[in-house]
Amino acid sequence: MTSLLCITIISLTLAGSAFSLPTGSASQLKVKVFADLGSNVTLPCRLLSQDAMAFGNIGMRIKWTKVEDDEALNKDVLLSMGFHKKTYGGFENRVFLQELDNEDASIVITDFSRDDVGKYHCEIINGVEDSMQEVSLEVLGGLIDGVVFPYTPLVARYNLNFDDAVQACQKQNASVATFDQLFDAWKGGLDWCNAGWLSDGTVQYPINNPRGPCGGTNNGPGLRSYGRRDKQISRFDVFCFSSALTGRFYWLVQPDRLTFDEAVQACLDDGAEIAKVGHMYSAWKLDSYDRCDAGWLADASVRYPISRPRKNCSPEEAAVRLLGFPDKTQKSYGVYCFEEQ
Ligand SMILES: *[C@@H]1O[C@H](CO)[C@@H](O)[C@H](O)[C@H]1NC(C)=O
Ligand SMILES: *[C@@H]1O[C@H](CO)[C@@H](O)[C@H](O)[C@H]1NC(C)=O
Repeated sequence: MTSLLCITIISLTLAGSAFSLPTGSASQLKVKVFADLGSNVTLPCRLLSQDAMAFGNIGMRIKWTKVEDDEALNKDVLLSMGFHKKTYGGFENRVFLQELDNEDASIVITDFSRDDVGKYHCEIINGVEDSMQEVSLEVLGGLIDGVVFPYTPLVARYNLNFDDAVQACQKQNASVATFDQLFDAWKGGLDWCNAGWLSDGTVQYPINNPRGPCGGTNNGPGLRSYGRRDKQISRFDVFCFSSALTGRFYWLVQPDRLTFDEAVQACLDDGAEIAKVGHMYSAWKLDSYDRCDAGWLADASVRYPISRPRKNCSPEEAAVRLLGFPDKTQKSYGVYCFEEQ
């Protein structure tokens, strides 16, 4: 309990609050709230009973803050002093006090969005007993439900019209990514300089490190959009979305290097099938699958998934590495298989 008190006091000090907290009077509760995106969500906070006498006191304030790992980035959400209430920034006119009764300091956030996910502090300040309660807001079922990956087929870059794009993703056990999925992937660090179809018929690409040939350096990080394109005529790559695996993805342990046809057969002989690109991405992203061996996949590409970057194995970043689409008769690689479960 002592350490909790310390944390409370330190965070208040760092946040530069204009009041001081008498040692020993702080109480801290931690609550986790899960909600669906788009819903109205209540973040609970109540005056604790020992404070109740002083509630309604003119000096009483309720202050909600969204707290970040870096305290300097904390965001004010709502401040209430008697009849005076104010909301801030992205919370303006979107957050209100629930006020079920005199002891209720809960807020309702309307239209819960991904940006709202995180940790909040509710401070009740009345000059006699000050309390801080912590509420974590999370997406029901978790935020990461899949992985977005750019797909370029064997033939050539920028070779897919929209229908081809839909099929290309399907063949990798994936679907064409939605704008929201690509946006989340971009926030998660995806940087790719080839434009690809999205499910809404627009063509875009995600840039985290702005550079000359990828939409210029004048623009900040973001999604670069070519807008809506003619679905029959225009040809681009595609961004696919692969969800959690419904089976087991694995490297087939066997003695020989294989041609592509041998690789397909080896997985069948093992009671499985040769893995698709989507399987490898899902295993890599959602299960941290890591293997520094180049293996055939169903689209006749050769790839390997690295989640622990190290010397000779994608040293710069965690990634699914593409060696290319070698001659199918080349006997140089192993194989990744997928077993439905
Ligand atoms: C959320 O609350 C607002 C304001 O009270 C209301 O207009 C809206 O219909 C609510 N939305 C849902 C999904 O309940
Ligand atoms: C991937 O394969 C599983 C099992 O065969 C299937 O249930 C799922 O719908 C497929 N996903 C896509 C996006 O095609």
